[in-house]
Amino acid sequence: MRRWYRRFMRTPVWTRALLVLALVITAATAGAATGADAPSARIINGSDISISQAPWQVALVRSSVADNFNAQFCGGSLVSATAVVTAAHCVPGAAPSSVQVLAGVGNLSEATTRIGVSAITSYPTYNSVTQDNDIAVLTLESPVDLSGSTRRAIALPSPVSVSPSTWPAANTPSFVTGWGNTSTSISNFPSQLQGVTVDVLAGPLSPTCGIYGSAYDLESMLCAANTGPNRDSCQGDSGGPLAIDVSGTWRLAGIVSWGTGCADMPNYPGVYTRMTTYLDWTCDVVTSPTSITVTAGSSWADVAWSPDSTTCPWRNPDVQVTASPGGAVSTASLSTGGTRISGLSPGTTYTVTARVSSAAGATPPEASASVTIPAPAPAPAPAPAPPAVAPCTKTFFQQAARSARTRKAPDGTPAVRVISRIRVYQDAESWCRTKLTFIFRDKRTKKRLLQLPGSTLGFRRLSGKQFSAPVVSWPTTREFRFAGTDPTGLDRTDARLVLVSYLKKVKGMPAQSNIELVVVRRIPTDPASASGSANPLVAQNNTFGTKVAWATVS
Ligand code: ARG
Repeated sequence: MRRWYRRFMRTPVWTRALLVLALVITAATAGAATGADAPSARIINGSDISISQAPWQVALVRSSVADNFNAQFCGGSLVSATAVVTAAHCVPGAAPSSVQVLAGVGNLSEATTRIGVSAITSYPTYNSVTQDNDIAVLTLESPVDLSGSTRRAIALPSPVSVSPSTWPAANTPSFVTGWGNTSTSISNFPSQLQGVTVDVLAGPLSPTCGIYGSAYDLESMLCAANTGPNRDSCQGDSGGPLAIDVSGTWRLAGIVSWGTGCADMPNYPGVYTRMTTYLDWTCDVVTSPTSITVTAGSSWADVAWSPDSTTCPWRNPDVQVTASPGGAVSTASLSTGGTRISGLSPGTTYTVTARVSSAAGATPPEASASVTIPAPAPAPAPAPAPPAVAPCTKTFFQQAARSARTRKAPDGTPAVRVISRIRVYQDAESWCRTKLTFIFRDKRTKKRLLQLPGSTLGFRRLSGKQFSAPVVSWPTTREFRFAGTDPTGLDRTDARLVLVSYLKKVKGMPAQSNIELVVVRRIPTDPASASGSANPLVAQNNTFGTKVAWATVS
């Protein structure tokens, strides 16, 4: 049935030009025929129409042919901003890149922008021999602006508006349009869009369609014709719309599919794909998301799409989202506009795809996007260590003064009172802590001398600032905290200690010069720890009577 067209396309360009010229002359002599169904030598017995009379009509053109007139090979119908319904036999096995679409164009010689096709979805069981299931959807690379009067989507036969079991009824006038052959005897292709009104020949329950017999499949096909005068679509109109005005809304009832000859009535009416049969399939393909945005989470991705709420509002199919590699799946209804796909691995890049997956068995093109789940955040940097409490690396003692004499202790016990003034210098760059334990003993025997209650240790900074002024019992351990600011050590932190010790006067009490003060220094191994139990002991003996300018403990 496309032989005529192919033969025409094989004729030299000048021949085709002549044919077109002849057509233009015919049109001119026929006068201004503007009515959609005014009889003239158009479509077959149709007339010129403006694109505004069928703004859903698009021309399918071959990408490989430059000028639109020669490139046009089929028609189609806009059913949404991104989808064209056409006949499967127009695009058998065609690569999407081989087909382009002209929208809003009445005359093929008009300059216009071609719209690319990103996917072709033919009905899975389209039969190229019987023409059963002759329907395909082209997904457009970019949406068509539907706001004007020349580009509009035609409504699908909503089950809310029409009953699929009775619609369209016999004798319903329907409008078929296209740039197909206008002659039953020669190839005569117009550059201006043609339209003609034909009548639905039989309702869904009446299998009558001329003499096609079993070639006419009532369920998948619809036939239409008009015998007064014979009107029909013809070669080149395929894929185009058979539109019916239902209470003011044009709805797509059929797709130009096949016929024996053209306008050969009453024997061979035009045969159209019956849209009501393919309504759910068409809806699912058309409303399947054409693009998605994917946002990464820590082990998931949020997938979002813009639901098409106008093309098939009565239908809300499921969208299935898949992540590859791994094959994680999530499903949400189309109208929710998104879903979360979980179980993704950090540091992995996924291709996420989404498509309507519904009971209508549609396999629409997938919308896809890639997403990388971020690698796990590196373990948070350890909190900066608290300022190191530096162990005191150098301690200096200076015995400034000493006196000892026999006195009674405060409790009346006979005693030797020793008053020592000792300066302690600490080489502290920030601050440090040191524990000092003061022990008196007999220099010769190394025996400890018993210290009586009432002994005191007082100390203050040389700057005059008073430390806490404890009164302690002996022997005593005190922790000294030295705060230093001058790293040169010239202005060392120091303290003046005043020890008042009452040593119990016993038999064999050593002479003053043999009373020894042992200062044991303990440095915390753990600078933060005040406990010195685990720390090494470093002893420095400072003997009374010795002229010690500086005693260094290291
Ligand atoms: N199959 C034809 C094409 O590819 C359309 C045939 C329509 N024939 C008819 N008698 N209505 O253009």
